Amino acid sequence: MAVRTAVIPAAGMGTRFLPATRATPKELLPIYDTPAIQFVIDEAAAAGCDRVVIVTSRAKPSIENYASAASTDQVAVSVVYQESPRGLGHAVSCARQAVGDEPFVVMLPDEIMGDASLTKQLVALYEKSGKTSIGLKKVPVAEVSSYGNVEVIKSSAAASGESSVAITRVIEKPKPADAVSDLVIIGRYVLSPKIFDKLEQIKPSANGELQLTDGLAMLADDGELLGIVSEITRYDTGTPMGLLRAVIEIALERKDIGPQLNSWLKEKFTK
Ligand code: G1P
Repeated sequence: MAVRTAVIPAAGMGTRFLPATRATPKELLPIYDTPAIQFVIDEAAAAGCDRVVIVTSRAKPSIENYASAASTDQVAVSVVYQESPRGLGHAVSCARQAVGDEPFVVMLPDEIMGDASLTKQLVALYEKSGKTSIGLKKVPVAEVSSYGNVEVIKSSAAASGESSVAITRVIEKPKPADAVSDLVIIGRYVLSPKIFDKLEQIKPSANGELQLTDGLAMLADDGELLGIVSEITRYDTGTPMGLLRAVIEIALERKDIGPQLNSWLKEKFTK
């Protein structure tokens, strides 16, 4: 079945960005002149989605305002609400009715990708296999504990960059000693609608949140979880420093302002 819906979880309070997020949700903070979430909406559209569902909080009414303004002929953007902050797994389950009994993309807006290639590959893999397919990245072992960590069936192709692997185990943010590999989950998932029943069954983790990773682990147990190991350019905008780097790097890539920014930076650092 074709993948036409993208879900963007955006209910967090953005406390790392205070005071900027007192009145502006972090997803609307600008990357130069474009709100961060717009990059994710554009990526969904480029990957063939014609519906975007943003899961947000009632404390962030400007997300709903933005969603109504962001719909185009190609993509309809709407919101659903997560009534309490109970984790990523809970946020995804809040979109169940809006998504329906169909596969869908989940895109974490704290990660801006250099292009839509990974999401396109995940959609193609889902459409070929019928199995949940998630983005993976190789990281230094010291960084594994910040992410969902996966064990995969060893495949020589996995080392070569962009090929698919079968995932046999998933653990959320393991202690370095408990890491099962150097592969971690990055914020792009193409989920089978089977995930919704799995999310009904999971228990809250130690911090009280329902983890999407625990639902994925159940799919892995059923032999229903694939990954694509990717080397895509990825900007982690979940911290103020990450956002600043994304602004500079993305602005440098732009034809309209890139050259101007580049010469200003050169001038500044050669003084
Ligand atoms: C979430 C997921 C984690 C994943 C990460 C990717 O964690 O729970 O499995 O690796 O996104 O960015 P968060 O960064 O929201 O704590």
